[in-house]
Amino acid sequence: MSSGNVINHVTIIGAGLMGSGIAQVAASSGHKVTMVELDSKLLDKAQKNIEKSLERVAKKQFKGEEDKIAGFVNESISRISGSTDLNSVVKDTDLVIEAIVENLEVKQKLFGQIDGVAKPSTIFASNTSSIPIKDIAKSTSRLDRFCGLHFFNPVPVMKLLEVIRIPETSDATYNAAMEFGKKVGKTCVTCKDTPGFIVNRLLVPYMAEAVRMLERGDATARDIDTAMKLGAGYPMGPFELSDYVGLDTTKFILDGWSKNYPDNPLFKTIPMLTKLVEEGKLGMKTGEGFYKYQK
Ligand code: 3HC
Repeated sequence: MSSGNVINHVTIIGAGLMGSGIAQVAASSGHKVTMVELDSKLLDKAQKNIEKSLERVAKKQFKGEEDKIAGFVNESISRISGSTDLNSVVKDTDLVIEAIVENLEVKQKLFGQIDGVAKPSTIFASNTSSIPIKDIAKSTSRLDRFCGLHFFNPVPVMKLLEVIRIPETSDATYNAAMEFGKKVGKTCVTCKDTPGFIVNRLLVPYMAEAVRMLERGDATARDIDTAMKLGAGYPMGPFELSDYVGLDTTKFILDGWSKNYPDNPLFKTIPMLTKLVEEGKLGMKTGEGFYKYQK
């Protein structure tokens, strides 16, 4: 393993949809990766999902060349290991990317715990979509080695990485983060630590406004989706995207923002969204959101 800012070994904390996607792209671009979860069953599930997704990527990349497909999948998989022992993993890692539950206290506790264990040169990053990076980073004594690395779902397909700098993020950390992003095949954009960074700041109010249109009865969900796909060239309409991302995620982001910025009408919570979430209609993952899905 390396010292300084060369990133060879990456620790991904949280092996959910985002964490496993990040692990996949890091491994397939040559990094050694350790995924950390609380339960080894979650690690097994993530490994299986990664394998399936790697096959999709490989089939596209090496059309019909079975040896190359198998080689890519097996080599990538061989670079990924799993662990439930966070402290022992972070002792010798170059970059930690946290992709756990969107809860500030839980994230602060996690980073506070590993700050004293990781080597001084290790860079810490959060994949949070809506919590200020500075609030998470202040639980550590390495503000200069802290940044946001915000990936998009599905990670193996979406080409963007937002690199978030807090005022204390050093140039060396920022440069290493940008280089890592490029190496994993993403186009990197830089953003200050502002609500939603770039993409969610625009996307979440847009999805919220679509729900408000539906609430007012201006148009059906299907017609709003069709309009945005065919009239604006989006790959998914706002309701398809909400169902894909998870209604709970959209609601969580809006709730946090409306609490912190009560005067911004873009961030206001929406009764229809609240009702669907309370009914457990969270989108594709629960079989129903704005639309119904075959499980
Ligand atoms: N792993 C690997 N490959 C995948 C994949 C995955 N998980 N999901 C899709 N793909 C590949 C497929 O293999 C397929 O490749 P092909 O074109 O060579 O056959 C290609 O992607 C397209 O997939 P599908 O044919 O299954 O379906 P679509 O053409 O409808 O594309 C989509 C699916 C890529 C999800 C597309 O609809 C899309 O781009 N949607 C918008 C997604 C988006 O906006 N994401 C950002 C959400 S916001 C966010 O993540 C921020 C967070 O903080 C909330």
